[in-house]
Amino acid sequence: MARVAIVTGGTRGIGEAISKALKEAGYSVAANYGGNDEAAAKFNEATGIPVYKWDVSDYDSCVSGIAKVEADLGPVEILVNNAGITRDAMFHKMDKDKWYAVINTNLNSLFNMTRPVWEGMRERGFGRIVNISSINGQKGQMGQANYAAAKAGDFGFTKSLALEGARKGITVNAISPGYIGTEMVRAVPQDVLEKAILPLIPIGRLGEPEEVARCVVFLVSDDAGFITGSTLTASGGQYMS
Ligand code: CAA
Repeated sequence: MARVAIVTGGTRGIGEAISKALKEAGYSVAANYGGNDEAAAKFNEATGIPVYKWDVSDYDSCVSGIAKVEADLGPVEILVNNAGITRDAMFHKMDKDKWYAVINTNLNSLFNMTRPVWEGMRERGFGRIVNISSINGQKGQMGQANYAAAKAGDFGFTKSLALEGARKGITVNAISPGYIGTEMVRAVPQDVLEKAILPLIPIGRLGEPEEVARCVVFLVSDDAGFITGSTLTASGGQYMS
């Protein structure tokens, strides 16, 4: 039986590439999404991957969403916490809605999604959790105090759960992408992208979503069983940790 994987935010951007790559690698994939029904329907039609709508910032929605996936596909053995949003603003212009929206969706979602699958993984003695963080959670970023704080939180969560899961066959790792050519990055003002960001990427281009997806496929594989608590960075050399 194919292992079951949930990818949050799995119908667009980096998540879309992860869902497709996992399917290609033989996993039974459930792609969660939060709001864009049209994109999810298009994704489902193109890939055949089932889509599930719930809000990862809400614990009860995660519990019921995961229960539905498990009833349809079987126990979740792989969880990719990918869903994330930006509400960029310089801190002197950041209101509390921008702060809480990002912390709830990007950080509190880790608890909301992982807690309901954790006990099953412990009981079965196998699990793979991959948290998609960001180099901006390591180096900081102007206009992203909220996002960088949430993404920095990914690393503490990853390392702590890696310790707890180690004797139970569960690995927990983080991926730290740099600037990847998705809608999220293309929403950055063009002049900022060209003048302040691209020159800082030694490889000289934005990353491709598939380049992050291939990191996930490796980390969830049986071959990666000795790798836990690590951070795999895919940033074109922009930040090295
Ligand atoms: N790197 C370096 N400098 C930056 C910067 C960045 N990422 N973002 C803004 N700046 C600089 C601007 O160039 C500008 O400098 P000057 O005054 O010298 O021209 C200054 O900060 C103020 O910027 P704005 O004039 O644009 O100010 P604003 O208030 O109109 O907008 C902003 C501020 C919303 C932060 C806007 O600049 C912005 O969206 N910047 C991009 C922030 C960013 O990098 N977001 C990452 C999104 S992608 C992502 O999050 C994925 C991931 O994990 C990497």
